[in-house]
Amino acid sequence: MTIQQFKQTAIEKLTTSPSPALDADVLLQWILQKDKTFILFNRDLELTEEQEAKLAEAIAKRKTGLPIAYITGHKEFFGLDFNVTPDVLIPKPDTEILVENAANWIIDEYTRQPRIFNICDMCTGSGCVGISLMKFLSESDGTISKEHLPGFTMCDISSAALAVAKENADRLLSKAQRQKFNFVQTNLFDNLGHAKVGIYDIIVSNPPYVPASETTELLKDGRSEPRLALDGDVTLEGKPSGTDDGLALIRNLIPQAYRFLIPGGMLILETGEYNAEETERIMKENGFKNTKLYYDLEGQLRNVSGIK
Ligand SMILES: C[S@@+](CC[C@H](N)C(=O)[O-])C[C@H]1O[C@@H](n2cnc3c(N)ncnc32)[C@H](O)[C@@H]1O
Repeated sequence: MTIQQFKQTAIEKLTTSPSPALDADVLLQWILQKDKTFILFNRDLELTEEQEAKLAEAIAKRKTGLPIAYITGHKEFFGLDFNVTPDVLIPKPDTEILVENAANWIIDEYTRQPRIFNICDMCTGSGCVGISLMKFLSESDGTISKEHLPGFTMCDISSAALAVAKENADRLLSKAQRQKFNFVQTNLFDNLGHAKVGIYDIIVSNPPYVPASETTELLKDGRSEPRLALDGDVTLEGKPSGTDDGLALIRNLIPQAYRFLIPGGMLILETGEYNAEETERIMKENGFKNTKLYYDLEGQLRNVSGIK
């Protein structure tokens, strides 16, 4: 079978996928370890029997609804190649603006008062937010000098998710950057000590914020993402909260984050477009000042921030 024949077969078989041609391309790139251009210019290349067998297995998995990223074990985020497993949420393009908005605030603050920032990535999952932030601040943008590499506390309740985040930090960060990362298994801020005074300059978080009923609907498509990563309607004990606005976890996160911030520190959260304004209200209610709403590239409300 040639590359072109595989693509045709894949498109015919992946009837329930919203993007069968793209799925076929990504699977070919993964199996052949080649880029898009190679696939495009080598349509008549014969696949080996082993490659065909692996591709057939991948198509069978995709037909169950399993996302391509869980099949290949990789997802690009902020220009970086993250390892993913079904223990972590697949990093979403929407979350890139959380990194950008956090980075903009850090750069402004750093320009005003150069120092070593102490950053908490709460609900870190694959580690994509904190790791991208470190890379951007210390490499791409270059504003933060080497002596001032920020420190990161990467938190998640799931030990399996933290294992993936650590693996990504080991793969993607330099030795000096990696040394500034600390991973903590914790239910929100429980295991971060009893802060009498604030610790963090900025807390950045993409927490579970999807309403419980919508989470149940989403998971019906076989995507296999952890319910723990999506459902925002859970109590501190991890039980259903009985609410259906996606905000039960955020209602606990906000006052805890306030205690863990230094005066003048920022909390910035990703939310749904449907619960961003209510999140801003909860921030104000808990003492945050200068609260702000941010839109994503599709014009949807996506981030909320406030200053202690
Ligand atoms: C929406 S995912 C975000 C993952 C990653 N930061 C991203 O943006 O792709 C939310 C993460 O929060 C974690 N989580 C859920 N409840 C938590 C809790 N009570 N304390 C800490 N982490 C929690 C989940 O395990 C999951 O990894």
